[in-house]
Amino acid sequence: MRSIVVAANWKMNKKASEVPAFFEEFCTRIQHHSVRPHMSLEVIFAVPAPLIEAAQRVMSDQYRDQMRKLGMSIAAQNLSEHEQGAYTGEVSASMLTDLQVRCSIIGHSERRQHYGETDHHVAQKTVRALEHKMHPIVCVGESLEHRENGQTESVIARQLEALFDVMPEWQRVTIAYEPVWAIGTGVSASVDQAQTVHGFIRDQIARRYDRAAGERTSIIYGGSVKPASIGGLICQKDIDGVLVGGASLQPSDFAAIVENTIQS
Ligand code: PGA
Repeated sequence: MRSIVVAANWKMNKKASEVPAFFEEFCTRIQHHSVRPHMSLEVIFAVPAPLIEAAQRVMSDQYRDQMRKLGMSIAAQNLSEHEQGAYTGEVSASMLTDLQVRCSIIGHSERRQHYGETDHHVAQKTVRALEHKMHPIVCVGESLEHRENGQTESVIARQLEALFDVMPEWQRVTIAYEPVWAIGTGVSASVDQAQTVHGFIRDQIARRYDRAAGERTSIIYGGSVKPASIGGLICQKDIDGVLVGGASLQPSDFAAIVENTIQS
């Protein structure tokens, strides 16, 4: 059974002082919801690094019940490909696991675009995360230009290939399909566009490894996800959750996204 992953990406937003109010409202709204017995749900909050401890403290001190019921956890938005050393400003996988952080987004298009992360960096970061038994959520996706030139599949195949080349065996990696043109623009990919690419990604994993590897991998969609769009997405056979930016900043919106996922 594949996990359904609903992940919030707060990006560079909020301060530690805003964290308690966020979780109070979010947890109040979802307190009467529980997942169906056959559903394996993970609700992940990828918060800025300086907010990790505050978020963990609030969740485990006050909302332990919901945490367990909905599989809630705090994640990072990035980690270094290096183990330790003279890398000013970076955060290592071992620093994160030391704080009990078990998951990180890797290779978000904003990292690729603004910080020059290449497919090679993304692959190295993924290896580093896996070495530390973390759960990487690796982002792939095409630009508008690529899509318009009919290069969507070749770009995604190239991004996946870099990952496959450093992973002799497929491990637990969640793939987030995030078309760059849909991120923060309010223009979401259509359900059909998303399903087509998700099917392609699963197929690529199955071809490189085996069918079972493809079948057990959660592939989630990101790009202008809103409470109203989640129902259509989550019903698709190859869409196993969402990565949510803008709509994860409002506890009411993100709670609605989690509720709609549970009910769909
Ligand atoms: P968005 O961001 O939901 O604001 O489009 C998604 C993401 O960047 O992960």
